Amino acid sequence: MSDEVALTVLFTAARVRDRVRELAADINTSYPAGRDPHLVSVLKGGFIFLADLVRALDRPVTIDFVAIASYGTGTRSSGVITLTKDLEIGITDRDVLIVEDIVDTGQTLSWLLNRLQARHPRSLRTVSLLDKRSRRTTEVGIEHVGFTIEDQFVVGYGLDYAEQFRQLPYIAILNRSPTDTPVR
Ligand code: IMP
Repeated sequence: MSDEVALTVLFTAARVRDRVRELAADINTSYPAGRDPHLVSVLKGGFIFLADLVRALDRPVTIDFVAIASYGTGTRSSGVITLTKDLEIGITDRDVLIVEDIVDTGQTLSWLLNRLQARHPRSLRTVSLLDKRSRRTTEVGIEHVGFTIEDQFVVGYGLDYAEQFRQLPYIAILNRSPTDTPVR
C-alpha cells in the first residue's frame, strides 16, 4: 500500500454513537413484541456496527454471520460474488435483519437478499450504517439507513482500505493517490 493516504474525519465517534442509538430505537419500534429480530451481519466490515447496535437494542436478539467476497480489480465490487461463509442458523420463518456497513452499487446486498429470501424467512429487512446512494447500479430497498454519503471512499468503524483502518472509532474519508488501488 502506498503511504500517500490522508484521512479526513466525516463522522466523529460521538456522532456515530448517537446515530446508532437512533437506528436502534427505530428498529425496536419496527418489530412488535414477540417478533425479536434475527440479525445477520456481513463480515468483516459490519462487525463494529453490529456490536454497538445489539447493545443499543433493548430486547432479545439472535445473531449470525455471513462473509461475502466479490472478485475483480479496483476498489469497488466487481459483480462476481460468492459466499465464503454461510449462516450457521436456519432462517426459515425468522424475522431476519441484515446488518450492513455500507451499500455502494447495491450488488452485494441485492445478491444477499435474493439468497436469503430463497430460504423463506418470515420477514427480511436491512439496516446499513452508510448508503452511497448516488453510486447505485442495482436498485435495492434498505429499511434503515444511518447516513447517506457522497461518492467518497470511507474507512473506520469496521470499514477498511486494504485491511487497514477498521479499528478507528470514527468514520473518515480516505484521500488516496490515483495509483493506489487495492483489489477487493
Ligand atoms: P456494493 O456491492 O457495491 O454495494 O459494495 C458493498 C461493499 O463494498 C461493502 O460491503 C464494502 O465492503 C465495499 N465498499 C464500498 N464502498 C466502500 C467504502 O467507501 N469503504 C470501504 N468499503 C467499501
